[in-house]
Amino acid sequence: MKIGRIVFFVLLMVKGAYAQKAYHEQYRPQIHFSPPAHWMNDPNGMVYYGGVYHLFYQYYPGATVWGPMHWGHATSTDLVHWKNKPVALYPDSLGYIFSGSAVVDFHNTSGFGKNGHPPLIAIFTYHDPIKEKAHRLDVQSQGVAYSNDGGNSWKKYSGNPVLQNPGISDFRDPKVQWYEPGKMWIMTLATKDRVTFYSSKDFKSWVRESDFGAQTGAHGGVWECPDLFKISASDGAEKWVLIANINPGGPQGGSATQYFIGNFNGNNFQADDNEIRWLDAGSDEYAGVTWSNTGNRRLFLGWMSNWDYANIVPTKIWRSAMTIPREMKLVKEASQYYLASKPVKELGAISGKTIILNAKQHQYGINTHSGSFMLKLKTTQLKSFSITFSNDRKEKLVVGFDDSGNQWFIDRSRAGESGFSNNFVRKIATNRIAKIQGSDLTIVIDASSVELFADGGLTTMTSIFFPAKPFSAISLDASQGFQTSRLSYTPLKSIWP
Ligand code: FRU
Repeated sequence: MKIGRIVFFVLLMVKGAYAQKAYHEQYRPQIHFSPPAHWMNDPNGMVYYGGVYHLFYQYYPGATVWGPMHWGHATSTDLVHWKNKPVALYPDSLGYIFSGSAVVDFHNTSGFGKNGHPPLIAIFTYHDPIKEKAHRLDVQSQGVAYSNDGGNSWKKYSGNPVLQNPGISDFRDPKVQWYEPGKMWIMTLATKDRVTFYSSKDFKSWVRESDFGAQTGAHGGVWECPDLFKISASDGAEKWVLIANINPGGPQGGSATQYFIGNFNGNNFQADDNEIRWLDAGSDEYAGVTWSNTGNRRLFLGWMSNWDYANIVPTKIWRSAMTIPREMKLVKEASQYYLASKPVKELGAISGKTIILNAKQHQYGINTHSGSFMLKLKTTQLKSFSITFSNDRKEKLVVGFDDSGNQWFIDRSRAGESGFSNNFVRKIATNRIAKIQGSDLTIVIDASSVELFADGGLTTMTSIFFPAKPFSAISLDASQGFQTSRLSYTPLKSIWP
């Protein structure tokens, strides 16, 4: 063999070994989106167009900690498998590219369209680091970019910013939608302790309509990443949902997603009541918003971390993942409306053969290659119970229901490495919303996360953890008279090659 050939052969081997390793490192999520390398936070610009789900995200390609923000980009045709794309938006002289949204401008109101094809428009927050250093209030403004090739490449609008800062230090994360009755765009913007609505006919000039929330909802921190959409309830009622992420001040400390149910009339939002509702009551779902242009489906995705420790979790080459995309419904429970979330049905594409577990057996050895699986359980009479997932390092994650407090809980205190932050080990529990006797539970486990959907998704909780090895055993403690009518285990195949 010639020397040139040997070098070529060795290079191929190295490349092969590397490809094998990427996305299979310790703690690397196997069924969730995470960036190939470096820092990621909020999902941004989620829009569905031409059979493609776009996911942009807050991205710092220079390190595994937060830094000057770009929009990273990935696409999917099934919400499960993701293709990594080049960075979509880079910082410029107006600042870093903070969170925002994207829409399809079907009527070409912006004039950005070309050859009769509607443009995609992204709207984001410019965060000016120079103004920030000078301690000015007008650090953040809104900018626009558009795409004439279905979201592949983006041009920034030459007239940026389209919305100047009126002197509010937190003025960011625009979520825009078409409001058909008024034939106009509505922007929902997080403005410190509330949201402010703006309207526009052409996406370029914006008029302030009203604000909402200064006196309503949770106020333990600043409001960020809002969303607004209409949804039909299970009883046929039409309602508007307003999402306002908050940091800190979440139910488990740090960041979380709250929402309101009410009405929006093109000018202002009115909440039905004063109840504080959490879209995900766990410790690790944040900045969650929904895809635009998905017809009657309402698809939600959140960042699977918490600002309390996001920068110091023990992953090496990348930081953070997104939740499983979730489909949301509005359901009525004891005369009030709540959102219920479920993992999208597309997860079926990576589901292996479901095994019905003998509910009386209580101990099960599992053999999952990717470390990812789904457990489903049904009961007609909910009583205290717990399910323990463990490995041979004596690490365990415990998930269950506590009758005395009427609470769902996740205990990650012995689920692996946790010493990196004093804020990490907390009892994660939340009051049950459902009033009925029976219950169902879906648990989605990945290499370093658990997502719990209880009572048809009325209670949803997400939590991350860092075990030395994947879990290989499940045990059910139902000593308090809890009866399972059905318990099943479904292995989930890695979405990464
Ligand atoms: C939420 C957030 C947004 C902001 C972005 C910056 O996590 O603070 O309000 O636009 O992250 O990366």
